Amino acid sequence: MKTQLCEQFGIEFPIFAFSHCRDVVAAVSKAGGFGVLGALAFSAEQLQIELAWIDEHIDGKPYGVDIVMPASLAEGAATATKEQLEAMISQRHRDFIEDTLTKHQVPPLPEGMQGTESLLGWVPAGGQSHVDVALKHDIKLLVNALGPPPPDVVERAHKAGVPVAALVGSPEHAIKQREAGVDIIVASGTEAGGHTGEISTMVLTPQCVDAVAPAPVLAAGGIGSGRQIAAALALGAQGVWTGSVWLTTKESDLQPAVVQKVMHATSRDTVRSRAMTGKPARQLRTGWTDAWESPESPGTLPMPLQFMATAEAISRIYRAAENDPDSPGAQLAGTPIGQIAGMMNSVRPVRDVIFDMVEEYGEAVERMKAMGM
Ligand SMILES: Cc1cc2nc3c(=O)[nH]c(=O)nc-3n(C[C@H](O)[C@H](O)[C@H](O)COP(=O)(O)O)c2cc1C
Repeated sequence: MKTQLCEQFGIEFPIFAFSHCRDVVAAVSKAGGFGVLGALAFSAEQLQIELAWIDEHIDGKPYGVDIVMPASLAEGAATATKEQLEAMISQRHRDFIEDTLTKHQVPPLPEGMQGTESLLGWVPAGGQSHVDVALKHDIKLLVNALGPPPPDVVERAHKAGVPVAALVGSPEHAIKQREAGVDIIVASGTEAGGHTGEISTMVLTPQCVDAVAPAPVLAAGGIGSGRQIAAALALGAQGVWTGSVWLTTKESDLQPAVVQKVMHATSRDTVRSRAMTGKPARQLRTGWTDAWESPESPGTLPMPLQFMATAEAISRIYRAAENDPDSPGAQLAGTPIGQIAGMMNSVRPVRDVIFDMVEEYGEAVERMKAMGM
């Protein structure tokens, strides 16, 4: 499984792992892969704390940081204040959200308890503050999602000797990213958890490989086993970029009620929905995603308004699920996850997942060799 990226990053296996959870990131890198921390969920101050923790616990192994700097936002959102953004959310949307919660008996947050910060890194200022923090640490890769990173971000990363990767859903986007100075393309198929396009990994990966050769491509979307890694490398990728598979590891901080849902989910139980962020993102299908598709739905809002409008509701839903996984409110609890949800049936340590991937990869390659291929 040695590819050019293994040498470049000094890693044993070209298995890149996206996670919002620092324990997963450190465990992946320590097991020979490459952990990448998703910065989106953190304030700049909290990101600093997470990265300091990783620096201390990763035994000198390399890791990266993933930021989200959307190239397109609701009109005027890029320069608006939080108050101005709040004012763009209609009363109809607010009422629909509250009605949906009431229908499912989701209680309000207790007095004084804060919901998730509603703006996070969705706007340029948030993304830039994440970059500032990330580049103060010894990161080995900066990754961006939702369009080409701003030129100054690429320039600053390169000045610091940090290569830049970016997620794409089409070969045309891959070319645009290369023109923007991005070094590594992550070809993310529609099977993937989180924001995705419409082209499958099987079809997208070789197109991106050809479009940007000789630049390296990581295949993403639907990869959680050694056979799938073998397939990705056969398609010309230099490695794999994974996300969903880590959600059910021992180190993951995904809420237990949602872990149980994932363990029982089939590959048909995910949906590409705008309900979470306003852009299509694959996630578990729940009462919440169904509500946004229902005739009563006012329709989703453009980024970053949809997340802002729903952030407190999501905190309430998670709290309801935590307090009672069988409550009506718990039916609304979900997570971004890809179609490999149907293959995630047990909770295992990160290290075991990586070793099983490596073993199964070896068996797949041997089988192909025996076939004279
Ligand atoms: C829970 C979850 C959250 C995600 N959040 C982000 C994110 O904040 N930024 C990002 O670039 N990608 C995000 N992704 C997408 C992953 O980076 C990755 O492309 C995807 O998980 C790969 O497909 P897979 O889920 O089939 O492994 C997320 C994925 C999941 C499962």
